[in-house]
Amino acid sequence: MNATTVIIPTFNEAPNVAELVRRLNATSLPTGSEILFVDDSSDDTPAAITDASGWSAVPVRMIHRDDPVGGLSGAVVEGMQSATTDWCVVMDGDLQHPPEMVPVLMETGGGTGADVVVASRHVGGGSNAGLAGFTRRLVSNGSIAITRAMFPNRLRNCTDPMTGFFALRRSSIDVHNLRPQGFKILLEILARQRLKVVEEPFIFGERHAGESKADVRQGFRFLRQLAALRFGRMSRFAIIGGVGAVVNLAIMAGLIAFGMDYLYAAIIASGVTIIGNFFLQELFVFRDLRREGRGFWTRFAGSVGFNSVEAALRMPLLFAFVQFGHISSVIAQAITILVAFVIRYVFHARVVYRP
Ligand code: GDD
Ligand code: MN
Repeated sequence: MNATTVIIPTFNEAPNVAELVRRLNATSLPTGSEILFVDDSSDDTPAAITDASGWSAVPVRMIHRDDPVGGLSGAVVEGMQSATTDWCVVMDGDLQHPPEMVPVLMETGGGTGADVVVASRHVGGGSNAGLAGFTRRLVSNGSIAITRAMFPNRLRNCTDPMTGFFALRRSSIDVHNLRPQGFKILLEILARQRLKVVEEPFIFGERHAGESKADVRQGFRFLRQLAALRFGRMSRFAIIGGVGAVVNLAIMAGLIAFGMDYLYAAIIASGVTIIGNFFLQELFVFRDLRREGRGFWTRFAGSVGFNSVEAALRMPLLFAFVQFGHISSVIAQAITILVAFVIRYVFHARVVYRP
């Protein structure tokens, strides 16, 4: 096994430090390994780290930042820049990531020629046990689905881009290209360049002590990060969808002017737009993915079929919204269009154009 730098970002984790260092020592890391805390705390975490460095067999080092730029992600990047070994393992400081997995990630990294070994909650045997509550799981799983749809190529082999537990080969990573912000540093690393990713399942446990630092602000940072990483594909998809909606209305108006019944006009207009959108999509949104995945007619049937069903279902949904949700029909229509757009995008990126 290679020597490794275990990078641990900490923000007020005083009661977790000793236990984490003790369990890391018990995994018998190779000589030359180091535990590196990158600390932004305002409590007595630094004292706990200094204390641990007194008794730990594996050397313990701390970078304490008075100007904590980039938060959790910035701390990880700073740790990567200061590491002395080629391989690094990044993990949380609250023991939700089992230290016993560190040698497993390292062995896999050495044995497979991977650049990054991801500890995933979503491959065989992995689990999200420590993530309490239906809503948090829904948010977590939903954001993973959307994120993977936005980066179908780069995240092809990564089932858990939101994990904070992974090993990486520093020499494979273009650190200067990273723009760390918020909590999701792995996504930043994987989205910026093509890397060889291998996964190992793990069970995301419960916090040992203290409280989570995740909050709504981190949620907004995450959305900003997504926008910064990939404005391209999704906005092209949105523009084509918008153009399609205008064309749809124009055709409908034209047919009605020629005396056609409005229902037939609506069906024909939708059909023409859905097929037209498919070709525009092929050319301008998913051009780079066409060669790798499914054949032309499969893509055609998938896209046209899905959009037809979606268009047909949107009407009763709108009706139900207004009827039972007691909101104005315009707002209800705006919500259905937005939701339909996201679902349509996810379906196209993950199914129709799956690489
Ligand atoms: N240096 C530094 N600076 N560390 C931070 C900061 C910061 O601003 N904010 C949080 N941390 C540290 C915490 O001290 C902890 O060690 C780790 O980052 C994760 O933070 P938690 O507060 O435990 O967040 P969480 O458990 O809700 O979020 C984690 O969830 C994901 C899985 O759902 C994220 O850390 C991900 O890394 C993790 O995989
Ligand atoms: Mn945590």
